[in-house]
Amino acid sequence: MGRIAVFTDDPGWHGKQLKLAFANLGYSCDFVSLTECRFTMEPGQLPLVIPGFEGTLPDAVFVRGVPGGSLEEVVLYLDVLHALKLLAVPVYNDGHAIERSVDKGMTSFLLHNAGLPTPLTWVLRNRTDALAIAEHELKNGHMLISKPLFGSQGIGIRRIEKMTDLFWLTGSHGVYYLQRFIQCYGTGYSDNRVFVINGRVIAMMCRRGKSWLNNVAQGASCECIDVEPEMVELAIQATAALNMDYAGVDIIRDRAGDYWVIEINSIPAWKGLQSVCNVNIAALLANDLASRYLSKQAHEIAVANSR
Ligand SMILES: Nc1ncnc2c1ncn2[C@@H]1O[C@H](COP(=O)(O)OP(=O)(O)O)[C@@H](O)[C@H]1O
Ligand SMILES: [Mg+2]
Repeated sequence: MGRIAVFTDDPGWHGKQLKLAFANLGYSCDFVSLTECRFTMEPGQLPLVIPGFEGTLPDAVFVRGVPGGSLEEVVLYLDVLHALKLLAVPVYNDGHAIERSVDKGMTSFLLHNAGLPTPLTWVLRNRTDALAIAEHELKNGHMLISKPLFGSQGIGIRRIEKMTDLFWLTGSHGVYYLQRFIQCYGTGYSDNRVFVINGRVIAMMCRRGKSWLNNVAQGASCECIDVEPEMVELAIQATAALNMDYAGVDIIRDRAGDYWVIEINSIPAWKGLQSVCNVNIAALLANDLASRYLSKQAHEIAVANSR
């Protein structure tokens, strides 16, 4: 039986789903914390020690979580992902894709650089300049969103609605990430999550937030929506621009009906989406990994499963 290492500190529901999906392909899953992996550069030894895989390496790695920490700690975790790939172990999504997307500044740059519609965004160090940008936007009738560069699940995001909000404007670890607020289409608050695997949209949903923050982790409800070709196209292009095996793409529709890509997640949760869609997302992910990166036998099973 082949062995997959799932990097996570909290296997939970997603871990169970992946375990089942990979078991169907003849692979077992070991849950491993990236904090426990280490390099050992000694003669005659594998340079990388993955707990549970001592003296060997997994057939592939599925990255379900990269813990936060100091810059050095996070660099070490990413080094482990990069090293695995150099040692010919498939890493899904790989370290480069994760690096690009956990950093909202780089994500915004890559989206913009690819010519995709993403809200006006400023990423900078200087507080005086950040205040000047915010003031200028407010004067022109636009609210702003301030986000932590490495945030997720809506944590730490603030909305700058009026001049007095500028008093509390602080950067996250010294960096300001400011983005024009997009007033969403329709009543209430909503945006969309589009799930892409290997260049194909497999499911999408609308998220309705209790406030303008539409993260499921912040209490947004999930609603199944019909496939919208414009969003499908945008999500596929955005995933390609960030070179990801799979991605959860956040897209908001504005009052004029235009779509904007807000962000791309390289380690997206799919519990909310799974609750409103008919495909088995974990199975599609496992099949994709197996069919493109694992042995011929796994490939055949994955292809048979997808029929
Ligand atoms: N520019 C924006 N305009 C309107 N709403 C936004 C904007 N940016 C973020 N949001 C809201 O905040 C949520 C979280 O923002 P996002 O950039 O996806 O960060 P996170 O990584 O925390 O999910 C989005 O799903 C959306 O509801
Ligand atoms: Mg998001």
